[in-house]
Amino acid sequence: MNKPTVVSGIRPTGYLHLGNYFGAVRNFIRMQDDFNCFFFIADIHSLTTHPTPGDLQSGVKQVLAEYLACGIDPEKSTIFIQSDVPEVTELYTFLNMNAYLGELERTTSFKDKARQQPENVNAGLLTYPVLMAADIIIHKAHFVPVGKDQEQNLEMARKFAKRFNRMYGKNIFPIPRPFTFDGKDMIKVPGLDGSGKMGKSEGNAINLYDDPREIRKKVMRAVTDSGPNEMNQEKPEAIQNLFTLMEIVSKPETAEHFNELYNKCEIRYGDMKKQLAEDIVSYTAPIRDRIIEILEDQDYLAKVAKMGAEKARESAAKTLNEVKNLIGFKKLF
Ligand code: TYM
Repeated sequence: MNKPTVVSGIRPTGYLHLGNYFGAVRNFIRMQDDFNCFFFIADIHSLTTHPTPGDLQSGVKQVLAEYLACGIDPEKSTIFIQSDVPEVTELYTFLNMNAYLGELERTTSFKDKARQQPENVNAGLLTYPVLMAADIIIHKAHFVPVGKDQEQNLEMARKFAKRFNRMYGKNIFPIPRPFTFDGKDMIKVPGLDGSGKMGKSEGNAINLYDDPREIRKKVMRAVTDSGPNEMNQEKPEAIQNLFTLMEIVSKPETAEHFNELYNKCEIRYGDMKKQLAEDIVSYTAPIRDRIIEILEDQDYLAKVAKMGAEKARESAAKTLNEVKNLIGFKKLF
């Protein structure tokens, strides 16, 4: 029986952080045996922020090495670089004809980015969800493992897939669904600066590549307050974030232990942070060692990227051919 297809990607804008890992990559690794997986490096998407050619190249290599270090196996999954598959941008062009200004302008990620970089509100930002839809549907994906922050982009991909199917009267594209394990919700890994999510552009990220000393320093700096003064008091956002992170990286009994101390007003945030830092380090240290090792083997990285590009292009070209036939680009002469 055919395995369901999975597609997901990450922008090469620096190092992978705990948000990327727990929101996406950990699921990639768990899916490799049971799904037909395509995991890529979204280098075209990263151009919306105008990286230098040098930063772009080092970012791509870094994410490739990090994918491998986390345990994505190029023999099981197709790992590739987005720009190595030009079929994606061709499909993006076609999809753009059926994507409307109003709906693109209304997406929260566009509005957020326009606010974050008012001097650079480019058309690529506006049509970002269209390119993302092309990434997903070109491999006829059934599932997309992403974090909570990508929910709306994924909803747009579903919309564009449905619209194309309807316009051309054929169910060429499956309607992709978000994927999480055990029926759990998509996750949002919080930052440790008191509010919001962990993210590269938020400047609050703990990276897989950070050395243990750096991780301890970042965690010890996390925003807290003067502590609870009533039993079973509701937690303010900054404190809740610390607990949420602990629930993600630590053993359930560890988070439970500190929760009890909090509820009894006996918590010492310093102790909690120390524990959290050690739990993060024990997760990341072996991955960091492997990243360093893999980055030294540029021939291996090149081999993986080449193999991935070939497999991804084969799958993409097949879909693009069908799409062009449906649209009416038949050979006329
Ligand atoms: P990007 O590069 O911002 O993030 C990559 C993945 O990491 C997840 N993530 C998080 N999950 C939980 N908590 C966080 N704090 C957190 N921060 C990041 C993201 O949800 C994502 O899964 N547009 C995408 C890249 C992309 C893509 C695609 C993804 C391009 N084409 C097609 C899936 C399918 C992006 O910018 O992700």
